[in-house]
Amino acid sequence: MSKSGLSIQHIEKQHHQLSVTWKDGHHSFFHYIWLRDNCACIECGDRYGGHRYLEFSELPDDITPRNIIVDDEGKLQIEWNNNGHLTTYSANWLREHCYSSAAIDERRSRPILWDSKIGDEIPQWDYKKIIEDDASRLQLFGRINDYGFGIISNVPTQMDEIERLASLFGFIRQTHYGRVFDLISTPQQRILAQTSHAIRPHNDENFRDPIPGLFMMHSLQASECGGGASIFVDGFNAARKLRHQNQEYFDLLSSTPIPHRRFLVDEVDDVAFSANWPVIQLDHHQDIVAIHINERTMAPLENEAHLVEPVYHALKAMFKLVYAPQASLEYRLESGQAAILDNHRVLHARTAFNGNRHIRQCHVDRDEFFSRLRVLQRQLH
Ligand SMILES: [Fe+2]
Ligand SMILES: [Zn+2]
Repeated sequence: MSKSGLSIQHIEKQHHQLSVTWKDGHHSFFHYIWLRDNCACIECGDRYGGHRYLEFSELPDDITPRNIIVDDEGKLQIEWNNNGHLTTYSANWLREHCYSSAAIDERRSRPILWDSKIGDEIPQWDYKKIIEDDASRLQLFGRINDYGFGIISNVPTQMDEIERLASLFGFIRQTHYGRVFDLISTPQQRILAQTSHAIRPHNDENFRDPIPGLFMMHSLQASECGGGASIFVDGFNAARKLRHQNQEYFDLLSSTPIPHRRFLVDEVDDVAFSANWPVIQLDHHQDIVAIHINERTMAPLENEAHLVEPVYHALKAMFKLVYAPQASLEYRLESGQAAILDNHRVLHARTAFNGNRHIRQCHVDRDEFFSRLRVLQRQLH
């Protein structure tokens, strides 16, 4: 039997679809062509494992059931009219894949938006615990999914430790910087990140395709002067505010590609990266799913003439929101602390400081991270 509430109470054969009423009162409909397509019998193949023998081109247009029953175990069984093929679906599977608007709405991701006031409630995870304890690791992963960042303490301050840390989340994305990049305050500066000036909030490396996913910082040595704090900004919250303030600006920034470039030739680099991304990326529900903003990597805009001024105005409004003091969470990473940020959502910045400071950083792709999150959820729930 399926879990209570997920049992089928009533089915009704309709013209192109099956109407299903559930014991908890929820109502679903499943089109016959969808049901036939999702047969996972040994002949048709189980697509989750990558096996698929039934081909779309073989699906008859007028597919209808000859017979439908809910069996003693609560499973739905359909015998198909064209060749008597038999398909069985568990009630749980059907309910999990219900595509009624209510069910789809329920499955939409709902990030938890935050601003500077989150400061008091930032949880920290103990490094040893997230390595050894799956439940702690799942908690941290869930937190990164909901808030876009997480803080880990008691990370040994050894040079190679970031490799081990990163391997908990995914595979390090190697770039022209190498696998790991050192941010050390030194008198001879090559790029801005290595100077001790303040850096404005930004997402990293929008000139790449794909843009790096999770961004990790491991503090080996915090600056002695107490400066050099990190600043984190929730880009989703800023975009939500912009939508509220000025829908026209929001629409412009979610539809206009912004060019980002990194053209650099010096004794170490010879690169010419170029990619275009909108500041705000939406999914088909119009939900905000990514933010890409960094004025230090933006190339000259190439908009149609009538959009040039409106795009500048919209960008100005968005930059004001992400630079606003009430948007920014200031957090000083002590030696032995690490921060993990979703670079497609959370902007980072740094306050000015004097003295020595050593942070190591790297990127890990997001797909691998989300896969590991789902695996943990499956194992522990
Ligand atoms: Fe950065
Ligand atoms: Zn089949």
